[in-house]
Amino acid sequence: NTAARAAVRQGIDRGFEMLGIYGSFEGLMSGKVKQLAWEDVEGWGFDGGAELGTLRPIPRVEEYYAIGRALEEQRIDALIVIGGYNAYLSINQMRQETSRYPAFNIPMICIPASIDNNLPGSELSIGADSALNNAVWALDRIRESAAASRRCFVADAMGRHCGYLSLMSGIAAGAELVYLDEFPYDLQDLASDVKMMRDSFRDGRRLCLVLHNEEAGGRYDREFIASVFAQESQGMFDVRHSALGHLQQGGEPSPFDRILATRLVRAAIEELSEQFAQNRSEPLGVGLSAEGIESFPLLQMQQKVDPQVRRPLSQWWLPLIDIISVVSRDEWDIEVRPLPITDL
Ligand code: F6P
Repeated sequence: NTAARAAVRQGIDRGFEMLGIYGSFEGLMSGKVKQLAWEDVEGWGFDGGAELGTLRPIPRVEEYYAIGRALEEQRIDALIVIGGYNAYLSINQMRQETSRYPAFNIPMICIPASIDNNLPGSELSIGADSALNNAVWALDRIRESAAASRRCFVADAMGRHCGYLSLMSGIAAGAELVYLDEFPYDLQDLASDVKMMRDSFRDGRRLCLVLHNEEAGGRYDREFIASVFAQESQGMFDVRHSALGHLQQGGEPSPFDRILATRLVRAAIEELSEQFAQNRSEPLGVGLSAEGIESFPLLQMQQKVDPQVRRPLSQWWLPLIDIISVVSRDEWDIEVRPLPITDL
């Protein structure tokens, strides 16, 4: 919503006529297209969700003709696509067919918007920060509820195969263990983790918070991990588990997300102006990098992602996994284990 509002207002400011497509490509094909005036997007910046609607399906080749016709009939000169992995894939695939569908030969700019933070060309996507805030809010409450008893709590965070939300919420909420798809684990890892947990509870620990990325580990999923821990707890602690669930998707966008959306859209509008001025029509993704806001050729997407697990090949935040073992386990040791007499 924040990105759509920013696009409408910044576009109008540039002298563009802005149209809203309701319901993604299906909406485009069925004519759900409406000119949006400045006041039409009043209030959109501060509400969660998407007034324009979202739809996940990637258009099928058989639909390309209808999409091309709709672009022409609506006299659409450029597309700003606000979306996640499927939106990026859709544009990428459509642009490979411009020789057969010349209507696709217009500037198309993708803006990264997904709580999963799994999009190429951007360190962060719109929505990931709001979802992280929600996840940490929930984990803090779980922590409070569980702190009175000797308990291990295993929580699933969203993100599909991308561990961003799990790791970051784990760090922010002080998790002791995090299981991510990016770092495969096996039964031996679970065995050594549960042993460490037993030792720690024996020494007085009251709570162990464990984060699991919803699609990590295949059959070694949240329920399996919780069962192993419960079975092997030897009476030292009890185990509960739950998925943080759809609360991660909801709520008002965080200030960071609102600002990120506005910055990304500004870059997209600049890019469109340049492409119009130079009579170009290059498909691009815009994104946040260490240098600021940058763009990359969308046709290079395949070289930047692992299509099996639908996430970038390089993820800047992965090395932070070390923080879990260093900070949490050190804290665990320092707080719980009595110092040997010789050190006193
Ligand atoms: O891709 C975004 C996402 O929130 C994932 O993190 C999650 O697994 C999925 O969507 C949930 O989908 P749905 O809302 O359709 O259950």
